[in-house]
Amino acid sequence: MLAVVPPPVTVRVPSKINLHLSVGDARDDGYHDLTTIFQALSLTDEVTVAATEEPGLEVHGEGAKSVPTSEDNLAWRAVQALAEHVGRSGDENKVHIVLRKGIPVAGGLAGGSADAAATLVGLSALWRLDISRDELAGIAATLGSDVPFALYGGTALGTGRGEQLVPVLSRHVFHWVLAFDQRGLSTPRVYGELDRLRADGDPPRVGSHDPVVEALASGDPRQLALLLGNDLQAAAVSLRPGLRRTLRAGVNAGALAGTVSGSGPTCAFLCEDAESALEVAAELAGAGVCRTVRVAHGPVPGARVVGGEDAP
Ligand code: C5P
Repeated sequence: MLAVVPPPVTVRVPSKINLHLSVGDARDDGYHDLTTIFQALSLTDEVTVAATEEPGLEVHGEGAKSVPTSEDNLAWRAVQALAEHVGRSGDENKVHIVLRKGIPVAGGLAGGSADAAATLVGLSALWRLDISRDELAGIAATLGSDVPFALYGGTALGTGRGEQLVPVLSRHVFHWVLAFDQRGLSTPRVYGELDRLRADGDPPRVGSHDPVVEALASGDPRQLALLLGNDLQAAAVSLRPGLRRTLRAGVNAGALAGTVSGSGPTCAFLCEDAESALEVAAELAGAGVCRTVRVAHGPVPGARVVGGEDAP
């Protein structure tokens, strides 16, 4: 009897920015406790998973050449972790994965984490698993600190390593311009630089996240703009001093405020509305301070099936 091959499944998954990122001191396991507010943005990757006799990983789009296709890729680790969790083995796990990248690599927008989250969601549909998003989030947390958020999307408060999440009410669509830098930045290096800066002195720390939660509930971008803050920004700027110029250029172009996203080097600029974002993007693109710019809005949902039989 011929085995029935399930159709491929495609998942769209958002990038994230950190509206607020408060980093604690280094823990014994090398991680830092943090309090962060994530927002998922409409800049996305698409991940297709298909059953195959010949497993493989293809990468297309933004930064494709610098994405490893070996077992180091977080998407492969997602396949392995999910298979182990549900007790699948051998030929049952053979998949071909295609990553179509819109999210820059090592940009502070959690692109690799997004691909891992999308792989978990795609395989759950391909393998017809009866598994909840919360159960997937438990697996996601073993893959990386930002992977659970990519599953849920929206706007959320993250604690622990960033993997413990509670949704935050966000009453408005916020409009952003993203400035991509020439090269990525290594996340562990940026955390290490922050530890070094803190050992040398006491760089200012962002305050409480409560006012940010209130601004999100009010939906007023002007109120939110005053509160964007990231403890990793000083470290990212220390390693990539040109970011100072990029941040200034965005505000000069008419953005309400700018911040380095996560460990950088992508800068995110909050704008008054969609029209203003297009104007800021055009002016920033001409300022010669970054490789390229994109407009995006948030919040948007987390990883969702968009193709295949199980599309909503
Ligand atoms: O969890 P993830 O693999 O994304 O983290 C990458 C690196 O970023 C960690 O190895 C660690 O150096 C740093 N990190 C941290 N504290 C966090 C999250 C990440 O120090 N809360």
